[in-house]
Amino acid sequence: MELKKEFDLESLTSSEFPEVLLQQARPFMELMMQYRCALMEVETKLNVLNAEFTMKNNRNPFESIKSRIKSPKSIIEKMQRKGYEMSVQGIEDNLADVAGIRVICSFPDDIYMTAKMLTVQDDIRVLEVKDYIVNPKPNGYRSLHLILEIPIFLSNEKKNMKVEVQFRTIAMDFWASLEHKLKYKKNIENAEEISRELSKCAEASSMLDLRMQALRDRIEASRE
Ligand code: GTP
Ligand code: MG
Repeated sequence: MELKKEFDLESLTSSEFPEVLLQQARPFMELMMQYRCALMEVETKLNVLNAEFTMKNNRNPFESIKSRIKSPKSIIEKMQRKGYEMSVQGIEDNLADVAGIRVICSFPDDIYMTAKMLTVQDDIRVLEVKDYIVNPKPNGYRSLHLILEIPIFLSNEKKNMKVEVQFRTIAMDFWASLEHKLKYKKNIENAEEISRELSKCAEASSMLDLRMQALRDRIEASRE
């Protein structure tokens, strides 16, 4: 991950960046830096698990990791939508997804294995678990969401930071990214039928995940 600033405060217009936050620009940037550090900590943990698992089992537990810091625009939009006090402290207290990591696995059981290996580590605290794989959203969305708290060590303090980690299979990610694109299309005809079809596609892709996993199990069993 690059250590550059994700955004340029000067380029933001005042409508994007409320006055109250402009006064707090420095503490805001400091908080964003701390979230970037928290992302690095969690990513390193995942990379360590990946290296060890790959050495022992000759395959990766996950395909890829993507991380992002929520943009100032999205932070402000969410703070306003939820009616939280617009301050740097308000952001830290109320938003759990400023730092986000998405871990894409090949198979559903790799999700639970990787999540378990991460959450049992003694410097990580699990604040929330939302299992949309066992309980998919009505539209068909599937993923495992964790809100974690992880310490970062700064020059003169240790600070606990929240990080949202989403675990998905390639198939779940494929579905979620298409659904995300379609969600923003306005005034579509036959919206209800389309939602039904989307939900059926999610089920079909979940079946595919389970069949591929069963295939992998058979292949691994036959090699021993
Ligand atoms: P907020 O965090 O306030 O948005 O609500 P929440 O905490 O109830 O959200 P949740 O944990 O359910 O989901 C948070 C994130 O998961 C979103 O920002 C998306 O990245 C992803 N997500 C959740 N539901 C969907 C969905 O229906 N479709 C897609 N494509 N992504 C989703
Ligand atoms: Mg959330």
